Amino acid sequence: MPDHNAVAAFHELLRRIVSGSDSVAAAGRSPRIMALCGAGLSAASGLSTFRGSTAALWHTHDPMKLATPEAFAADPGLVWRFYAYRRHTALAVKPNAGHYALATLARSLPDGSFLCLTQNVDALSLRTGHPPESLRTLHGSLFDLRCVGSNRKGRFHCNYSIEDDFTEPLVPALAMAAEGVDETATTTEQGKPLLLPHIPVDELPQCPKCKSLLRPGVVWFGEALDKEMLRSIDQWVAVGKIDLMLVIGTSAEVYPAAGYIEKARRAGAVVVTLNLDAELQQGRRALGSRDFAFEGSAADLLPVLLEPLIGKLEKPKAET
Ligand code: OAD
Ligand code: ZN
Repeated sequence: MPDHNAVAAFHELLRRIVSGSDSVAAAGRSPRIMALCGAGLSAASGLSTFRGSTAALWHTHDPMKLATPEAFAADPGLVWRFYAYRRHTALAVKPNAGHYALATLARSLPDGSFLCLTQNVDALSLRTGHPPESLRTLHGSLFDLRCVGSNRKGRFHCNYSIEDDFTEPLVPALAMAAEGVDETATTTEQGKPLLLPHIPVDELPQCPKCKSLLRPGVVWFGEALDKEMLRSIDQWVAVGKIDLMLVIGTSAEVYPAAGYIEKARRAGAVVVTLNLDAELQQGRRALGSRDFAFEGSAADLLPVLLEPLIGKLEKPKAET
């Protein structure tokens, strides 16, 4: 049994997978690799993770409580201000070598060989030029917008939506972060608890079709993931054996995303975990005898670990 964190043994596995010698069934077919990415992939770019030491409050608010349909219904201005801040923060940072390594992997393998599931809504993978056909944004994107308009009887639902809208600010009332306002302060300059001014609904992003409120195109707690996207992932899984499952920078606590790890394992995959807690006892116990776990930053690990498939990662010239 190879050491669970031996790079040479992992490289050997990759070479067997691409040469088709890893299993009899693999002979003559393309390799099949899946990845599940989480906030840890973007941590080296400077974005906070959700759980653990780098998790951040926004003003005095717990981000998990703002990411709900109930919070949006109660105060859309507050929730929009939080998302304007997150859009600004994501736009202010750059994709890192981990994102580029995955995008290069997608381009290096034959079509359909790699499916990258990301829970991240920051669009950093997209900004590397990662081929969209091999990327599934499980939890949506900060840069997608969707209309919430419907009539009282619920018979009419406006279907307006827009993808990859990087406009900043979206509306003047949401310009704070872009104008350099400290969007993390918890108290006023006088030390009093900070109360954010109310933003009226008619100053928030509006649907060009029906003039209702637009909302961020992300999945909130209590909401279902996009059915068509889930179907397309299930179809990819159902094609046959999966050789490798890369679990990158995620605590794997949120479902259904985390469920793909077991689905891949059942389809024959060796599971490879890359995160800052990979050596924790709890995680180690869950390792199968063929699995790997590498502790460190995804930005450092991915280019090294994937080298047999992607070659030496060139320094990115510019974002596409
Ligand atoms: P978490 O914050 O739960 O987990 C982040 C993981 O990244 C941890 O395992 C860290 O060890 C690891 N990590 C931190 N820095 C890293 C680095 N530089 N390189 C590699 N790993 C690193 O984030 P997620 O698993 O993404 O859902 O959270 C899953 C979902 O929970 C999110 O998509 C969001 C949240 O609620 C929704 O918004 C629906
Ligand atoms: Zn509308």
